[in-house]
Amino acid sequence: QPLKLWGGRFAGGPAPEMVALSASTHFDFRLAPYDIAGSRAHAKVLNAAGLLTAQELSGMLTALDELAADVESGRFVATAADEDVHTALERGLIERAGVDLGGKLRAGRSRNDQVATLFRVYLRDAARRVAVLVTDLQSAFLDQAERHHAAAMPGRTHFQHAQPVLLAHHLAAHTQALARDIDRIRDWDKRAAISPYGSGALAGSSLGLDPAAIAKELGLDVPSANSIDGTASRDFAAELAFVLAMLAVDISRWAEEVIIFTTVEFGYAKLDDSYATGSSIMPQKKNPDIAELARGKTGRLIGNLTGLLATLKALPLAYNRDLQEDKEPLFDSLEQLELLLPAVTGLTATLTFNLPRMAQMAPAGFSLATDIAEFLVRGGVPFRVAHEAAGECVQLAESSNRELNDLTDAEFAAINGGLTPQVREVLTVAGSMASRDSVGGTAPARVAEQVADLRVRIEGD
Ligand code: ARG
Repeated sequence: QPLKLWGGRFAGGPAPEMVALSASTHFDFRLAPYDIAGSRAHAKVLNAAGLLTAQELSGMLTALDELAADVESGRFVATAADEDVHTALERGLIERAGVDLGGKLRAGRSRNDQVATLFRVYLRDAARRVAVLVTDLQSAFLDQAERHHAAAMPGRTHFQHAQPVLLAHHLAAHTQALARDIDRIRDWDKRAAISPYGSGALAGSSLGLDPAAIAKELGLDVPSANSIDGTASRDFAAELAFVLAMLAVDISRWAEEVIIFTTVEFGYAKLDDSYATGSSIMPQKKNPDIAELARGKTGRLIGNLTGLLATLKALPLAYNRDLQEDKEPLFDSLEQLELLLPAVTGLTATLTFNLPRMAQMAPAGFSLATDIAEFLVRGGVPFRVAHEAAGECVQLAESSNRELNDLTDAEFAAINGGLTPQVREVLTVAGSMASRDSVGGTAPARVAEQVADLRVRIEGD
């Protein structure tokens, strides 16, 4: 007869279909070390409340230590008859401590408050691991930015050539987005550090247990202020699902660029052999599978977020079994990122940029036209007029198949008297970039400051 956490009021055992649907150990058993940590803390408050003698407490803790060791070694595993991780561990405890002592641990707690607490602790640990992996990716970006601190590339808007920018500036832009992703994890962590232990099934406990002591032992800040909310809320899970999906979206924007930059048409970058794949039929192929998987998995992480939100929508308070569907999407998002981030970091660290190609393309598409307009503005010409004049320069160059700096002094002067030969100073990629020295601009001095700031920030992380 398998151990059940309930059954007293039932005439017969559950139907096999019921058992099959209900079982969750294939995904929630990973919470076992966290559940055991909660049990240790719970045993101590039972003792403090006079519900376990010192001797019983010590027996209980010894049994829990044995169980933890057996879970870790794989000697203790869940069986098909265990409904969930909590059921499995209670069986394991009773096998080790005997039913008289083992059966005492459940007083004053419910799987509802247990799981709401453990899931938070688990997610906090996992999110912290992801944040570390994100800083590794940031370091790879910054290493590349420092290595190529003077290299130019075409900056784009609407995916068309817009203005030349430093490659380092572009790489730093991705690093900035990742810095906000880490900020979001940290900020989420504060809200997640709440302990529903002591909320019981939904209404709290009558046994005089100290929820603050449990919270403290589990590294959580405070007990839930409301036992209904403590057991029924899952916004902490949905919020993390968003933070992780956003991180994936940020990675996928870089991934998309890698895919484009490594095409024959662009030729901006080359993948290292160890971070590329080949084709089973086309011998010449070198494919950006890591970047494609980053892009593809992002869809999956967005799905995990929207799926969980759909599960939570319209759920009445307090606990409903629907809430068991909270775990797989989060486990999956975390697992995918723990696989993906190191691969994207390796890809980024080993990417070789074709600097001459990028430099050659940087001024193409008349990307220095804004520099002509701003040159005129510095000479007192209203921007509206300057914009028109620079546009005429583009039209003339384009219709005669020339670049902007191929226009003659006379042609410039004919378009606007302010276009003296000095305009040629800003009609270079280097001159254009150097002139954009506003805060956060692409001027080399500004970018160097930005990269140094990011370094400091990452080292603090
Ligand atoms: N395994 C459940 C979950 O993850 C916790 C068990 C609560 N079950 C119950 N019948 N109250 O949400």
